Amino acid sequence: MKRWTQSFWDWIEERTGISRVVRGLLTEYYVPANLNVWYTMGSILLVCFVIQIITGILLLVYYVPQTSKAFESVKFITSTVPFGWFIRRMHAMTANLFVFVLFLHMLSTLFMGSYKKPREVQWITGLLLFALVLVEALSGYLLPWSQLSYWATTVATNSVGSIPLIGEKLVVWLRGTPKVSQYTLGRFFAMHVSFIPFTILVVIGIHLLFMRLTGISAPPGTDKSKVPKVPFYPHMVMKDLASIFVFLAVLMLLIFHYPQFAFPHDALIPANPLETPLHIKPEWYFLANYQTLKLVPNEFLGILVQLLAGLFLFFLPFIDRSPERRPLKRPLFTTLATLGVLAYIALAIWGHFS
Ligand code: HEM
Repeated sequence: MKRWTQSFWDWIEERTGISRVVRGLLTEYYVPANLNVWYTMGSILLVCFVIQIITGILLLVYYVPQTSKAFESVKFITSTVPFGWFIRRMHAMTANLFVFVLFLHMLSTLFMGSYKKPREVQWITGLLLFALVLVEALSGYLLPWSQLSYWATTVATNSVGSIPLIGEKLVVWLRGTPKVSQYTLGRFFAMHVSFIPFTILVVIGIHLLFMRLTGISAPPGTDKSKVPKVPFYPHMVMKDLASIFVFLAVLMLLIFHYPQFAFPHDALIPANPLETPLHIKPEWYFLANYQTLKLVPNEFLGILVQLLAGLFLFFLPFIDRSPERRPLKRPLFTTLATLGVLAYIALAIWGHFS
């Protein structure tokens, strides 16, 4: 048996030289020995992406993107297909945790100053990934064609209507028709299963390529040239796996004990375009944006404020150019960023209870 596997490996090796590639990626790739737990968030995000692709493909086996059949098809998946309920819960719950870990990854790189020169491309591609994952979540929300799907999409697409001159046209362009309809479901489905996941894959590739080109940073306050180096495998792989197992444990806990978190009441009722539910709220990660739109008197102004905040984050590595990365040595930045995060959380809680 061993001889057979060995000769198979030799056959591959002779034609590809793959062991050199694997060595370059794992055992001969050196990283600082003192990388902390925040450096493992990226690997959890990769796991999230893989889970979404696998569970998404399995859901596609039975899902039907037609307004008259979509809800029935997801009901069939949940109640009849073996382990269908598990796959569906896993897809919906991982979507939530994906966004949550994205926040952790983004905030840790923000506070550790990892966005600074020479890692501007990682930061910008990261922001792009954040936006793409949010659009992916939003487009997926419509697919089950439940009351929640229908009305949350109606509200979300309505908000762009406030943009002067082009707003109304933009809403129809997004929906395909003046109201959320089969055309909306068709285009959201196409974006959700092909265009956006493919784009995310390409951007992850650029994000990681640049991480290899610039090298990963060392934690703030340590001099990278003096910190001892260890091979990525086994040292960093073990650290990554420890975080991934904690993540999977939390995911299973939520799937088995708190499924209602991903499937509230209105997610269990088929869409009815003639009956607006009493309380229609977006997902938790859009609550702060939703509350901002409610607070600012002019909805367009609300959108503009959020666009400007996004633009500011985009240019942050070019605005904040000092090489200092230690949070306590840049008190102005750390205070403003902490206040920003607290305001964001406060807006989300306010949005939830309002
Ligand atoms: C699908 C989403 C994402 C994936 C799969 C991903 C993956 C990764 C991985 C594997 C690393 C290297 C290890 C680590 O520091 O965790 C990394 C580094 C980095 N990421 Fe991401 N990331 C994503 C989104 C983001 C976002 C939203 C941002 C910020 C806006 C971001 C900014 C960065 C930065 C600045 C680094 C360099 C860290 C350093 O060298 O210290 N990433 N990412």
